[in-house]
Amino acid sequence: MALQLEAEDRSRFEAAVAPVRRHGSVPTRDAPAQHRHNLPVPLTSLVGRAVAVREINDRLARTRLLTLTGVGGCGKTRLALEIGRSLLDDYAHGVWLVELGPLVDPALVAPHIAAVVGVGETAEQPLVTTLVSALRQRNILLVLDNCEHLLPGASHAQVAGRGRPGGGRLRTLFAA
Ligand SMILES: Nc1ncnc2c1ncn2[C@@H]1O[C@H](COP(=O)(O)OP(=O)(O)O)[C@@H](O)[C@H]1O
Ligand SMILES: [Mg+2]
Repeated sequence: MALQLEAEDRSRFEAAVAPVRRHGSVPTRDAPAQHRHNLPVPLTSLVGRAVAVREINDRLARTRLLTLTGVGGCGKTRLALEIGRSLLDDYAHGVWLVELGPLVDPALVAPHIAAVVGVGETAEQPLVTTLVSALRQRNILLVLDNCEHLLPGASHAQVAGRGRPGGGRLRTLFAA
């Protein structure tokens, strides 16, 4: 059944979904750089955490890897997403949330990150090598969520973040 909207309802609907389309979770290739991300639209506003937000922003400016730790439910993911959203303008290649919770095999971490950031496999070299070299050339923030059980796999991001930067600026925020 094709659902139709009256003209007036349609314009109200368009106005309501416009922000979601601008900041929604489905990135498009030709999206403006500052809108390259897959962060979910927050349903509630952030309560408190102003000091933590400032401190994390400050540390991310100086360090390549930052891990947020704390008991389950204390707000690590929420905070990481908030930080990511606030830094969209700073990363020309985007801010990408990589949800690692459902993965059980560390070997799947690299393919998962590659899929999220749009790096494809080539015949010439292992995907991990392609991924690390691509990440090193990008100005990109990775938010790796629920990764503590996959640390061997998540170390690809650490490897990419170490050593010669390769012209890019990779930052990784782990929400453990
Ligand atoms: N500062 C906050 N403001 C608003 N909601 C929050 C805040 N911190 C956590 N929440 C909410 O509490 C719930 C648990 O937070 P979450 O970030 O998933 O915890 P964690 O990742 O540490 O397990 C989520 O629904 C999240 O949106
Ligand atoms: Mg979490």
